[in-house]
Amino acid sequence: MNKAFHIMATVTIMLSLFSLVTQSTAEEPPATQGSFKASAERGKMIFDTVCSHCHNATYEESRIGAPGLRGVLERHDVNWLNHWIKSPETFAKTDKTAQALIESNPFGLTMPTLPIVQDEHNRADIIEFLKTLK
Ligand code: HEC
Repeated sequence: MNKAFHIMATVTIMLSLFSLVTQSTAEEPPATQGSFKASAERGKMIFDTVCSHCHNATYEESRIGAPGLRGVLERHDVNWLNHWIKSPETFAKTDKTAQALIESNPFGLTMPTLPIVQDEHNRADIIEFLKTLK
């Protein structure tokens, strides 16, 4: 094993430990925490990579019946969004709005629970980005 591999492995382990430590059950993801500050730019990168497969960043519903996310903060508050984005299915078990939203999809499609947003900082970044879609 070479040195570069060791460094990579160490960094990977440290990063996963870090994300374990930073995952909490807070109602709202932290806009700031230690050196972390929620960033709409990082949020946009996640949106473009993951969310945009199903969602438009406009008012327009997508072809698969996912709501356009422009103006979404007028429909839901940050707390609601944090729960929904983390796991729509889990949230729908206790939240009537989430349940109704899932049932409203014309194709019977449900937004999946996505690995990238299990990290609360990533959720904070995405929500920061959603705030810019006014
Ligand atoms: C595989 C498709 C898919 C992906 C990927 C996806 N969504 Fe969704 N999303 C949906 C669908 C479909 C709905 C409508 C509710 C339902 O049927 O589950 C929805 C609903 C939502 C809503 C509620 C919108 C409203 O107007 O009430 C938000 C917010 C949302 N998604 C955010 C995101 C974010 C942020 C990401 C990326 C991290 C994402 N979604 C990724 C399919 C997807």
